[in-house]
Amino acid sequence: MFRKKRYLLVCQNQRESGHPKGCCADCGSLALRERLKVLVEERGLKGRARVLGSTCLDACENGAVVCVMPDNVWYGGVRAEDAEEIVRSHLERGEAVERLLIPEAPKGLSLM
Ligand code: FES
Repeated sequence: MFRKKRYLLVCQNQRESGHPKGCCADCGSLALRERLKVLVEERGLKGRARVLGSTCLDACENGAVVCVMPDNVWYGGVRAEDAEEIVRSHLERGEAVERLLIPEAPKGLSLM
């Protein structure tokens, strides 16, 4: 189990209907964030992992987007039903969920 604290940035951005970029909120990111928060609590990870809502992370075509820091791991196409796999694999075992990785590093937020 990882001891280092992790921050899960979950894009909550909402754009007007029909916007060409789309948005993570329309991809279920609000429910995703809530599910992640519940799981972090249930799995006893509070204090070691924190789930934060963010504005647009500039990876809109991959919504819903989750960025895990300080690992600089970016997940895309994430749905609420994927939350448990992220928590168990990434947060508990330190193994990124390969199937959800955004293939190319987005031009958005990076603290590295
Ligand atoms: S709207 Fe979520 S990354 Fe842009």
